[in-house]
Amino acid sequence: MPGKRSNKAKSAEVVEFANGEKIRILITNDRIQKRIAEIGKEIRADFPNEPLHLVGVLKGAVFFLSDLARNIAGDVSFDVIAVSSYGKNSQSSGQVKLTRDLDSSIENRTIIVVEDILDTGLTLRYLLRIFEQRKPKQMRVAVLLDKPERRIAPVQAHYVGFTIPNEFVVGYGLDYAERYRNLPHVAVLTLKDHAPLHP
Ligand code: IMP
Repeated sequence: MPGKRSNKAKSAEVVEFANGEKIRILITNDRIQKRIAEIGKEIRADFPNEPLHLVGVLKGAVFFLSDLARNIAGDVSFDVIAVSSYGKNSQSSGQVKLTRDLDSSIENRTIIVVEDILDTGLTLRYLLRIFEQRKPKQMRVAVLLDKPERRIAPVQAHYVGFTIPNEFVVGYGLDYAERYRNLPHVAVLTLKDHAPLHP
């Protein structure tokens, strides 16, 4: 059915939208939820008695942040930060700007930076430098998706939901020109004219 947005979709299912854009489901919402539950347990096992402060990167990480926060037992708080990489297209330009800072200090706290996708690594490198200057007690990085083939900056995440191939994905917070964030699944996007979405 065109435009169907079911939570029961299967991997590889293709959905075509009225605008001619197509998505192919790569990771279903069921798999996402199972993996986040595992990561939540892993994080708590790594820090059994520690208050944990999650720092989500807007906007892409909103759903991952909220699901992850609910899957870590015990003392958990969170905050958000926003960055923009110049340009609204799918290609990371490499230039990052802070557009919204944290509400509270991270000094001497154990923080988990929560990001939607680790692609070139330039955004996380920029953020990790800022956070390090603020002297957290410990810092870890959790990303839902990792596209290692595209890495420019040598950044690694401690917790990775899924390693994916070099394809442009949308859904579960990830957008193309601000659209498709609300898809429950992670899906590969194809434009109408098959224009390349990725360098
Ligand atoms: P990086 O700086 O190249 O690692 O990527 C930073 C940001 O680019 C991510 O937080 C996403 O917002 C965006 N991005 C990278 N790859 C994709 C993708 O495949 N789909 C949607 N957004 C992406």
